[in-house]
Amino acid sequence: MIRSDNRILVQEHLAHEAEPRPLNADKRAELEARIKQALKDRDAVLVAHYYTDSDIQRLAEETGGCVADSLEMARFSNQHPASTVVVAGVKFMGETAKILNPEKQVLMPTLEATCSLDIGCPADEFAAFCDQHPDRTVVVYANTSAAVKARADWVVTSSCAQAIVESLDANGEKILWAPDKHLGHYVQKTTGADMLLWDGSCIVHEEFKSRGLEDLKALYPDAAVLVHPESPDAVVEMADVVGSTSQLINAVQTLPNERFIVATDNGIFYKMQQVAPNKTLIEAPTAGNGATCRSCAHCPWMAMNGLENLLYVLENGGQEITIDADLRERALEPLRRMLDFTASRNLKIAGNA
Ligand code: 13P
Ligand code: SF4
Repeated sequence: MIRSDNRILVQEHLAHEAEPRPLNADKRAELEARIKQALKDRDAVLVAHYYTDSDIQRLAEETGGCVADSLEMARFSNQHPASTVVVAGVKFMGETAKILNPEKQVLMPTLEATCSLDIGCPADEFAAFCDQHPDRTVVVYANTSAAVKARADWVVTSSCAQAIVESLDANGEKILWAPDKHLGHYVQKTTGADMLLWDGSCIVHEEFKSRGLEDLKALYPDAAVLVHPESPDAVVEMADVVGSTSQLINAVQTLPNERFIVATDNGIFYKMQQVAPNKTLIEAPTAGNGATCRSCAHCPWMAMNGLENLLYVLENGGQEITIDADLRERALEPLRRMLDFTASRNLKIAGNA
């Protein structure tokens, strides 16, 4: 496994982090009304990830946009007729929208919202790694820069990674995988494919602790454990369902359990509670009581998306995604392959129970 120590880089990015300030009810209502109007004025659609603030998710729903996992966000922006797409999420999601829709303007509340997986996989180091293994098919997770995608044969998200790797393995292809080592390990284990893994991780999911989860399971033996595969192996091992954000939401809706222990960003609770209002959701343990980690169960970059910066870009522009045309062409190919593959398999939100 190639090593890429990105702790310092992640700390540097977090030092710039600016979380939106709390708002009172009147201010929130005023901002929401202005955002709704500005979306119409700009012919814009709001595409939000499940980890963003509930106010943003609600606005996306109320204005005909979408709240989704990263695969559905890509599909939606590709199919919607609006001339401007506003992506509330992290930068790789905005870049994906721009790669798929070069003719559209793609805005984000802030371009500072990045991802530790993206930071931990610099394009030049990654290209050198690929050059050392020319016999391997390069599969990258969507949580990467456009430049890393441009070096890949395939892009995958957690919704479709397993199915795509399974099909490549059936073709006899050996795989070079980046950047998330935990998801890579999970896919390797479930498919048996020959995979060489980059050493990247998500600072949010890496905090989930199997010991604390054991204690919680003992307290609530009836609860189903839902785990995003960016979590460490010991936590994934304890799951009743492992899946992407959409797949975990689907599990809350369809499983008969009354209680769920959820190991992913707690922004997802808004949608889970909406689809299953009578079920009890419990956050999986992170570093324990009194811990001071900044990323415990909530992504610090997703948290940078707020109503004020959303309204600001809608009214004033700026924070626009731009990608060099040649780079875009090269990044489009592996992304298109993913979209074509998932469309042909009709892959949507089935969980891996
Ligand atoms: P999903 O594709 O499952 O929404 O995951 C995106 C992500 O960044 C999870 O941390
Ligand atoms: Fe990246 Fe983790 Fe945040 Fe998802 S939760 S955007 S993988 S840092």
